[in-house]
Amino acid sequence: MEENKITVQDILSLKNKRKITMLTAYDYPLASLIDKAGIDMILVGDSVANVVLGLDSTTKVGMMEMIHHAKAVTRAVKHALVIGDMPYESYQACPDGRQVNPQESVKNAKRFIDEAKCDAVKLEWFDRCLEVTEQIAKAGIPVMGHIGLTPQTADKLGGFKVQGKDADQAKRLIEQASLLEKLGCFSVVLECVPDRIAEMITKKIEIPTIGIGAGIHCDGQVLVTYDLLGLFERFTPKFVKKYINLAPLIQEAIETYKKEVLQSQFPAKEHSFTIKEEEIKKLSSTYD
Ligand code: KIV
Repeated sequence: MEENKITVQDILSLKNKRKITMLTAYDYPLASLIDKAGIDMILVGDSVANVVLGLDSTTKVGMMEMIHHAKAVTRAVKHALVIGDMPYESYQACPDGRQVNPQESVKNAKRFIDEAKCDAVKLEWFDRCLEVTEQIAKAGIPVMGHIGLTPQTADKLGGFKVQGKDADQAKRLIEQASLLEKLGCFSVVLECVPDRIAEMITKKIEIPTIGIGAGIHCDGQVLVTYDLLGLFERFTPKFVKKYINLAPLIQEAIETYKKEVLQSQFPAKEHSFTIKEEEIKKLSSTYD
């Protein structure tokens, strides 16, 4: 293991010391930049479905794609804790509708650790979440929970909406966070939760809360990196801050490349390889 590689224990000990930083990555170049910036945790999120693969739901990405992307990320990362996001088919239901049993979920979680070399897995809250989380944690695999807006089952939550906006819903979220802590999760993502409820959860549990659309009081923050960079143009949620708007810059660069090729301006001399004149002369005597 790398000398300064962040461990689950490090993440736990950061609570009440300093804020924890987390971003998503799906490929080697971005994972490498994120890691060099000293971000604490990198999530190989199933958001790869929407952001990179052009799919309309995170439920449409499977183990094959997640392991493939996770491997690219872990090849790049020397420092951050890497978390593999369990896809819907790996612990909830298969494409044919069959429920995945907890033993299969454990097997799939192990693939993230053994094959893709991730340090932990994340799974979203769903009706059999406690049983599955418990089995994976018991197998010695660090688990991050995810409550609030859980995109894999958003249809059951009334769509992509803020969760915990009334006292009953908020109480359920607080209970879910406590149960996940009890079952051995090392942290929990709070997605689209009112800031005051996220604050209550953060104060109540001893494991770090990582917010996305959950306000300033969480122990840490996560964003989808493509959103932060302005690379995902289809939809921008309210909680996203674009730190740079790369899409138009990339568009402009590509259009300039096209123009230069069409006008024979690229490649220039400095992008070309040379050969000694005497060698050309030898060739000319053969081919002239
Ligand atoms: O898949 C993902 O990117 C996520 C984050 C939004 C937490 O689950």
